[in-house]
Amino acid sequence: LTELEMYKTDVLIIGSGIAGLYTALKISEDKNVILLSKTALTQSNTRYAQGGIAAVTAESDSPELHRQDTLIAGAGICLNEAVEVLVNEGPSCITDLIDYGTKFDEENGAFALTKEGAHSQRRILHAQGDATGAEIVRALSKCALSNEKITILENHFTLDLVTHQGQCIGALVRKPDGQVIYIRANAIVLATGGAGQLYRYTTNPEIATGDGMAMAYRAGAYIKDVEFIQFHPTSLCYPGAPRFLISEAVRGEGAVLRNIKGERFMEKYHPLKELAPRDIVARAMVSEMESTGSTFVYLDITHESEELIKHRFPTIYKVCLRYGLDMVTDWIPVAPAAHYIMGGIKTDLYGETSTKRLFACGEVSCTGVHGANRLASNSLAEALVFGRRIAERIGELEDIGDEVPAVSFSLMRQHTMNNDTVMERKLRLQKLMLAHVGLKRSEKGLTKAVRELERYVKAFRMKVEKPEEMEYMNLLTCACLVANAALFREESRGGHYREDFPKRDDLVWRKHIVQSIEDGVL
Ligand code: FAD
Ligand code: SIN
Repeated sequence: LTELEMYKTDVLIIGSGIAGLYTALKISEDKNVILLSKTALTQSNTRYAQGGIAAVTAESDSPELHRQDTLIAGAGICLNEAVEVLVNEGPSCITDLIDYGTKFDEENGAFALTKEGAHSQRRILHAQGDATGAEIVRALSKCALSNEKITILENHFTLDLVTHQGQCIGALVRKPDGQVIYIRANAIVLATGGAGQLYRYTTNPEIATGDGMAMAYRAGAYIKDVEFIQFHPTSLCYPGAPRFLISEAVRGEGAVLRNIKGERFMEKYHPLKELAPRDIVARAMVSEMESTGSTFVYLDITHESEELIKHRFPTIYKVCLRYGLDMVTDWIPVAPAAHYIMGGIKTDLYGETSTKRLFACGEVSCTGVHGANRLASNSLAEALVFGRRIAERIGELEDIGDEVPAVSFSLMRQHTMNNDTVMERKLRLQKLMLAHVGLKRSEKGLTKAVRELERYVKAFRMKVEKPEEMEYMNLLTCACLVANAALFREESRGGHYREDFPKRDDLVWRKHIVQSIEDGVL
């Protein structure tokens, strides 16, 4: 057992996507911040965001319309107050982003606005056509790098949170050379992003392994609504290509879906057709795939001009071309892939979790904004709005003082897995989740998944050392949380569809499933 080297700061922020960077900038107005990223500063889900960011900027639009669209997509269980916060505070955060240097696309002297599924208005701001996330990361990371109050530590993997008498007081962090240090802070913000790597097919990069949710769960925080997983309808599905996202904005600009016989089919499933909520489009695609015996359907935007396609979707166009697919002339093979987790660490309207001094922001959090299904492009907006509120709340926090204990830590090296074993286990978990906790679920499949996961947990008798081992352990924790909640909720709603309970049941299930390590399922 070794006593760890300790570093002190006012606020520790874990994660360098939009949530971590923006919150850090806001907090740095009066406090010192350490900002951690487990890989490179600019590597995050945020970096890959395409479609854009939803906020009311047009005169023809209103926060009320944005509120209604968010509530409808959320399928009856959004937290009203949280949605109010999002739609009313979003526009001023956009001004803030611009002040930090983000350049959004414009046309005729106004923001160029696009539309995505289930939005009643054109209200989505975008940058460089389809590279909104990359532009936001560019601007915010530049500001953070030049800010003297923010210390950025790249390739620093957070292993666990440190709690003392019910408060979170810091985190254990593995440095790039393998040394484990203890960073102590008055407040800790988890901004670790989502858990797309739970599934075999995902639009998320490798970093999305649910670390923050698993750490918060181990620290005793409440985890809410995690049965609701969003599968994006249109990820590239082509031999040798990654499950690269083909933005919903492509459908927003008029692209249609066709089954492998070339037939348009969405009119059979929803009046909004290709722009219906994501869960509906994704399940309609799977039904068509099943009835035609195919593993994909086509996305067709060939009726649009070459100029529009190349100008609006330069990144998507180039990536498709790399695989021999020309959007101007070819239909693009697509299939649903895990994209976003609606649930996460339960927070109040100021991002505070049920564990004192622990905050959560961005995809890792469950503020209540998304309910059972997130409205497209509300994620980036949510991170900003609640990030700013977290900074406000942390500004009011009293200092924790120096009377906190030193921390010791031991690693059991003899049981660490080799890389192959970790990769094999991760793949097995991802396949299990896809087969039984995916777009369509049933009691039989979910029970099988829960039992298998319990077996994986029992087989996992080791303390871990390497980041990839930690990530597997975190994924396993998240998988158990998701599968348990999905088995518990005996209805279908938003991103949770049960073949054995295909209807929404507002009488019994208009409520939330909250889990905690101490209290079990509430
Ligand atoms: P992330 O951006 O994922 O950042 C997580 C950070 O946490 C990373 O820096 C990572 O290194 C760090 N981290 C994680 N674990 C640890 C650890 N153990 N130790 C240290 N650091 C750690 N949403 C929209 O609103 N509009 C869009 O157009 C849009 N397009 C999308 C396109 C794609 C392909 C994807 C995958 C998602 C898209 N989304 C979109 C969703 C949105 O991008 C994400 O929900 C959002 O970016 C999450 O931001 P975040 O800051 O919470 O987390
Ligand atoms: C997309 O561009 O389709 C992704 C938008 C989102 O996930 O909000």
